[in-house]
Parts: sequence; structure tokens; C-alpha cells
Amino acid sequence: MSGCDAGGTTNDAGVERPWVTVKLAQTLDGRIATRTGHSQWISGEASRALAHELRAAHDAVLVGIGTVLRDNPRLTVRLVAGRDPLRIVADSAARTPLDSHLLAERPELTVVAVGELAPSDRVDTIRRRGARVLLTRSQSDGRIDLADLLGRLSQRGVRGVMVEGGAAVVTSLLQARLVDRVVICIAPKLVGAGVEAVGDLGILHLDDAVGFEQVEVRQLGDDIVFDGRVAAPLRAANTTGSRAATDR
Ligand SMILES: NC(=O)c1ccc[n+]([C@@H]2O[C@H](COP(=O)([O-])OP(=O)(O)OC[C@H]3O[C@@H](n4cnc5c(N)ncnc54)[C@H](OP(=O)(O)O)[C@@H]3O)[C@@H](O)[C@H]2O)c1
Repeated sequence: MSGCDAGGTTNDAGVERPWVTVKLAQTLDGRIATRTGHSQWISGEASRALAHELRAAHDAVLVGIGTVLRDNPRLTVRLVAGRDPLRIVADSAARTPLDSHLLAERPELTVVAVGELAPSDRVDTIRRRGARVLLTRSQSDGRIDLADLLGRLSQRGVRGVMVEGGAAVVTSLLQARLVDRVVICIAPKLVGAGVEAVGDLGILHLDDAVGFEQVEVRQLGDDIVFDGRVAAPLRAANTTGSRAATDR
């Protein structure tokens, strides 16, 4: 599999949204960073080139503000030939630093998605820096409603979004069933305690696990690359926990 489904898709409510690919680099024990948040680099050079290929194949790359504050990523295409995607930050309170690579370099490619309560002085400063600010609906916890964000991106012609973390944003997208494809580069490393690739999805029975189809697994350098499309849920939600563990 390469690139993304050019056609976009719809969410559970039938609203148009872009195709969403999650890409992560993790250790053998499922960590995307150490417990201090250090993550550069978990995977090898060939896997990092794959990440750049995926960036070039999507209209936009999305990260959470946690990743911007910790890693200060550029999210451009440098290791392969290709065009730079739009760079989107889920940043409810408009905390993206003015000296971050995303605002200091090619800010016209950066979209800071903020919530309804983002301080207006911060929003104005980011706009003056040359980046776009996209006002999105806030959830009850104040964070960005990612379905609303994807819908707004779709209205602006974005057909494919690659999500490069971190764990909180990926977990929210999986919880909301907004992920179409997952690419995970698994590096031959163990770090023990650290940042889990995916947080709590509220899954209590294996029948409710996020499943995959069209799975491809290959070796890239010393890493194993998993690439699969998210399958439809096995059964309806809200029946979790109602059955006894009789399937052993
Ligand atoms: N190995 C890898 O592939 C990889 C990739 C990326 C990051 N990382 C690592 O992951 C760590 C960062 O992950 P993280 O989980 O702390 O941060 P994150 O997912 O990048 O960002 C989380 C923040 O995004 C904002 N956000 C806005 N709307 C959200 C929503 N609906 N759901 C979730 N978050 C939302 C929240 O801050 P506000 O409330 O302020 O908006 C939240 O605290 C770093 O250690 C980084 O190095 C690893």
C-alpha cells in the first residue's frame, strides 16, 4: 500500500472527511517515547524515509501540540522527493510557540487548529506570523473535536491526512473511529516504562479490539513495518463486558 485513498470518506454521521492514516514509530514493547518523552529516533533511517514518503502522499500532516512542544518537528518532506504537506496542529489553547519550526519556517503551510476558548491575543499573534488559524468546535473537556476539524479540512479540499502523533491525538482519533489506515514502524528496541503508542480505548473484550484488513508486513532495515486498513467493528458498541470469558 502506498499513498492514501484519494476519495476521502465519511464519518459515522455521514459527514465528509479526509482519509486518515496514522503513522507511528514504536519500540517492541509498544512505546513511542521514553518516560521522559524522548523519541528521536526510535526507528531506523529507512523507516524515517517511509514517513517522508507518506507525508508527500497526503495533503496534510496532523500532530498534537504535545508533540510540537516536545519534539519541535518540521513535518516537511526532506528524505525523499515530494511536495511538503499542509502541517496541522491540534492546539486548543493556541500554545504553538512562535519560534517552533512550524511557525518560524514556511508558516504559510501551517494550520493551527484552536478551540473556542483560545486566547485571542495568541490567535492574533499566530495569524500575524503568517500561519492559518482554524477555529474548531471544542469538546466538553475543552479539547478540539477532531471530527469537526476533519470536516472543516475536507471543506477546504484536504482529501488525505497523515497523523504523526502523539499518543493523545492518536487515541482520540481511534476512540472516535476516525482512522482508516495505520502504519507502525516497530524498532528492535525495548524501553520499558514510557509513552504508550495508544492509550485507553475503553475496550474490555477482544471482540471490540480495533481490527485490520489488507494487512502488509515487511522488514525495512532492522524495523518491522505493519501497514493495515482499519476494519469495521466486529459488533455494535455498548455490549462490552456483558459476556462471560467462555472463549478460552
Ligand atoms: N514515535 C513516534 O512516532 C512519535 C510521534 C509523535 C510524538 N511522539 C512522542 O509522543 C509524545 C507526545 O505525545 P502526547 O500524547 O503527549 O501529545 P500529542 O498527542 O502530540 O498532543 C496532545 C495534546 O493535543 C491537544 N489536543 C487537542 N485536541 C485534542 C484531542 N481531541 N485529543 C487529544 N489531544 C488533543 C491537547 O492539548 P491542548 O488541550 O492544549 O490542545 C493534548 O494535550 C512526545 O514524547 C513525542 O516525542 C512520538
